[in-house]
Amino acid sequence: MKVKILLASLALASCGASEAPTPTDSLTAQELAAGKDTFAKTCVLCHGAEGQGDGAASAGFDPKPRDLSDAAWQDSVDDEYISKIIQYGGGAVGKSPAMPATPLLKGKPKVLKALVAHVRSLKK
Ligand code: HEC
Repeated sequence: MKVKILLASLALASCGASEAPTPTDSLTAQELAAGKDTFAKTCVLCHGAEGQGDGAASAGFDPKPRDLSDAAWQDSVDDEYISKIIQYGGGAVGKSPAMPATPLLKGKPKVLKALVAHVRSLKK
């Protein structure tokens, strides 16, 4: 049942539906917290606490990290893309290699999924 709900929400997300639910259905509160915590520890430096591209280290990049809360950008990408850039870095999706890979997520699919869910939760 949970798998079906997740698939349904992924299908909606890839259609670009603006009210698509975040893919959190199959994650426990603990896993979601781990995703949020990983964002705070690994991403905020460049992306800022709310993902708006205003992290302490953001000024040095060209191109700079975009505003991840931007609804138009959120709707233009699927979860698979977000998952890929997080795992393998910008170079893996044709973006700047200044966006680093996150090897510590290797073998932690739930944390990766929760991190993608956290990125989705930043949408304004
Ligand atoms: C060292 C700085 C740095 C860190 C750390 C970092 N990023 Fe990035 N990120 C960037 C930069 C720079 C870009 C812009 C790449 C581009 O537009 O070519 C980017 C782009 C992105 C994008 C958007 C790609 C797009 O389509 O525009 C996402 C999503 C993202 N990062 C997520 C994350 C997450 C989640 C983490 C933590 C696991 C993270 N980043 C850690 C620098 C960083």
